[in-house]
Amino acid sequence: MKISLEEATSLLLSEGVVAIPTETVYGLAAKYDAHAACEQIFALKKRPPANPLILHIASYADLLFFTSSPPESLQKLSDAFWPGPLTCVLPVDTQKVPALIRSGLPTQAFRIPSHPLTLQLIQKVGPLVAPSANLSGKPSSVSPEHVEQDFGCHFPVLDGGMCQNGVESTILLFQEGRWHLGRLGAIPQEAFAPILGYTPAALHTEMPLCPGHYFRHYAPNARLHLNQSISCHKAIVGFSDRIYPGAPSFFSLGSSHSPQEALFNLYTVLRKLDEEGISDAHVDIHVPQEGLWLTFLERIQKAAAG
Ligand code: TXA
Ligand code: MG
Repeated sequence: MKISLEEATSLLLSEGVVAIPTETVYGLAAKYDAHAACEQIFALKKRPPANPLILHIASYADLLFFTSSPPESLQKLSDAFWPGPLTCVLPVDTQKVPALIRSGLPTQAFRIPSHPLTLQLIQKVGPLVAPSANLSGKPSSVSPEHVEQDFGCHFPVLDGGMCQNGVESTILLFQEGRWHLGRLGAIPQEAFAPILGYTPAALHTEMPLCPGHYFRHYAPNARLHLNQSISCHKAIVGFSDRIYPGAPSFFSLGSSHSPQEALFNLYTVLRKLDEEGISDAHVDIHVPQEGLWLTFLERIQKAAAG
């Protein structure tokens, strides 16, 4: 159920849960210090309690309340990318962030989203936790209709239209004096080099940096096939400027020259497969192994593994 900014404000102030638009994907939001509402987020999503939430703030000054000595480079990242699709994970003052939302870790993920409605909402209500507004393991929501598919037509959604990026934020984690890549996302890895002087890379540890990476992700009910040879007997998820002879049905990711377009369309297409009762689909993954295409390939591989 689409609601206004005023309705969203009053629901959140009375410790409710509301879906909010961001430039990446819709989020399932609550005031960070509303314990019952935060618990409800985990329950609604069927999210494992070991998977912590991102805290959405409105300014760099908000962040300084939670962490007294951020790394110097954070100010540079903030100037370059916030408000926008970057999430930074930092050690925090654990007295100030409820253990529930950081899953007991000594760190917290922060992001300043750029969607104007959500920025206004945070300015009125204060910092909001918000995981992506989808059932755990399923494709994220990039429109109010997607949120309603997962949580019902009476679930309150602040209507901000379609999400501009359509894919989650890039996550960087600060550890041992350096930034590491926690999750590929809407900002390509190489965009950080001019700011930091190096490209943050994934740490190769036994434990994934983001606890969320343990869990099944982004997967529709349809089985996705990523093998190189495209079978003409299956539905095809592919590009509008390529020809797939004999395919019984076709789901377009847009131009094969635009990773932004592919990411914008990705979750809508994955959801459409299920809406149309498709059991198996072949995905065209003949794309360059660089830039934002790496985010596209990572999401598709996770969705296929589900
Ligand atoms: O674009 C986004 O980031 C969206 C919008 C709504 O802001 N949010 C989002 O949240 O994608 P979620 O909960 O679906 O994914 C957050 C990821 C999870 O993989 C989680 O494990 C990781 O961030 N994360 C959160 N807190 C963390 C922490 N303290 N240390 C490491 N990873 C963390
Ligand atoms: Mg998610």
